[in-house]
Amino acid sequence: MTAIDFIEKKKRGEPISMVTSYDSWSAALVAASDVDVILVGDSAAMVMHGHSSTIPADLPMMAAHVAAVRRGAGDAFIVADMPFLSFRGSIDAAIDAVGMLMRAGANAVKLEGAEGNLEAVARIVGSGVPVMGHLGLTPQSVNAFGGFRVQGRSREAAERLARDAAALQESGCFSMVLEAVPAATAETVSRSLTIPTIGIGAGSGTDGQVLVLHDLLGLQPEFKPRFVRRFMDGASLITDALNTYHQEVVSRQFPTVKEAYS
Ligand code: KIV
Repeated sequence: MTAIDFIEKKKRGEPISMVTSYDSWSAALVAASDVDVILVGDSAAMVMHGHSSTIPADLPMMAAHVAAVRRGAGDAFIVADMPFLSFRGSIDAAIDAVGMLMRAGANAVKLEGAEGNLEAVARIVGSGVPVMGHLGLTPQSVNAFGGFRVQGRSREAAERLARDAAALQESGCFSMVLEAVPAATAETVSRSLTIPTIGIGAGSGTDGQVLVLHDLLGLQPEFKPRFVRRFMDGASLITDALNTYHQEVVSRQFPTVKEAYS
């Protein structure tokens, strides 16, 4: 997969699948699967570091996750999230941040929002780095939104979303995430663009879907928003395996002679 393939897939009407990964071992599993793209999301701050939002993610944290993912992912296409405020201070600072993520092993970067970002997007794209946009519920703005809420519900908000999406496309984005947007709005925006949209909580009318790996594997059973489908009950499987291991240790069934050196 390359940035060019995203647009080609949209032209052919082929949906794009993307999942998050933050470490080497899960990246190797995703890279060995049929999934098209790996996102090193700033959701790492929540999933891997236990924070309640993505705001604590910073560049060293993201670069370390990107580097770990690259070591496991072979030549899979990796999109790296630009963390909170890393692209807002100045264009030079944004370019430095992009350099850090690309040197760590990313193939593209993703940044949240359109307003105030269009010049930076154009400069990053002009520097040879594909940029994925992210509109709708942009989690780095959780404090402005008053929580993790569906966006684009009113007519004005839906029109603003469509304008922002067009502006990001115009600035050179090769694709964009639409997060927590009413399905009909996400579909209208997707149809209005030549670049693919990748939805999360945005219905089936987008050009692709993205989920957090831990959500789709059922590893965070307490987290069950409407848009998540669990493709396995990972938490139960892991707990069962750990309990079996414990039982076999205390009953001295593990290790056997075959699992020991003579
Ligand atoms: O950080 C992340 O995981 C994301 C996805 C939810 C799209 O941005």
